Amino acid sequence: MLLKDKVAVVTGAAQGIGRALVERFSAEGARVAVVDIDERGAQTAAQIEAQGGRAMFVHCDITRRASVNEAAAEIKSKLGPIDILVNNAGNIQPAMLHKMTDEQWDSVIAVHLNGSFYWLQAVVADMMERRWGRIIFSSSSTAQNGSIGQINYAAAKSGMLGMVRTAARELGKYNILVNAVAPAATTDMTKTIREDPKFAEQYAAALKAHPLRRSGEPEEVARGYLFLASDLSSFVTGQVLSVDGGSMLVR
Ligand SMILES: NC(=O)c1ccc[n+]([C@@H]2O[C@H](COP(=O)([O-])OP(=O)(O)OC[C@H]3O[C@@H](n4cnc5c(N)ncnc54)[C@H](O)[C@@H]3O)[C@@H](O)[C@H]2O)c1
Repeated sequence: MLLKDKVAVVTGAAQGIGRALVERFSAEGARVAVVDIDERGAQTAAQIEAQGGRAMFVHCDITRRASVNEAAAEIKSKLGPIDILVNNAGNIQPAMLHKMTDEQWDSVIAVHLNGSFYWLQAVVADMMERRWGRIIFSSSSTAQNGSIGQINYAAAKSGMLGMVRTAARELGKYNILVNAVAPAATTDMTKTIREDPKFAEQYAAALKAHPLRRSGEPEEVARGYLFLASDLSSFVTGQVLSVDGGSMLVR
């Protein structure tokens, strides 16, 4: 087991990639915290426990610092000090840039950047003291390539990479490794884009052009995170791992 006795926090784990992460991390021996604003996170945690794992759901709005600090304290008291953090929660509010509202902009920036920053600060002191930590951000190929109708999301996912590189440089001496995964999967999040006539054509063309000619499954994406969460990646920090079927090559 690659994560035996580790405590892992995954934000946005009620569904999608986050859910696949807590399931896989649990199967590898970790005690896992399912952090989400969506109450379906309770089902995710219950299912893991039914299969013999140790999991808890914590209702937390990551855009609120107090909510993050309360969640971190509850996890520490119930599962122990946090070893692994995955800043995975995400949202999209697509609109062409000349039509995007302040609310759409602020909402996406708040979830990805503020939420990740609050969680980073909530876990890092214990990791520094214990001289072991793994922090992984869910970025996106959008950070590299941009995406029509998603200037807020592209800015947020690029901003995450600045956080990754800075945190990797500051925290390396404490044996805390900070990396990002850039996934391209098919989950509820991309469904909005796929099914919106304004963006569907662009999405279909991108899929047709990319090397594997298919979307990924959350379970396939989870294996990339597992590598970065475990000791398999002990000499890897400040990096972005694309788990995207090679789609980065052709966009
Ligand atoms: N699915 C893809 O194709 C894809 C591609 C590239 C990057 N990503 C990134 O991977 C991550 C996971 O993607 P997904 O497809 O599983 O997304 P998803 O929409 O299925 O799940 C995101 C989760 O985040 C939670 N969340 C949103 N706002 C929150 C908040 N304020 N506080 C707490 N939780 C909140 C949602 O409730 C949801 O459960 C996201 O960061 C996404 O941007 C996904």
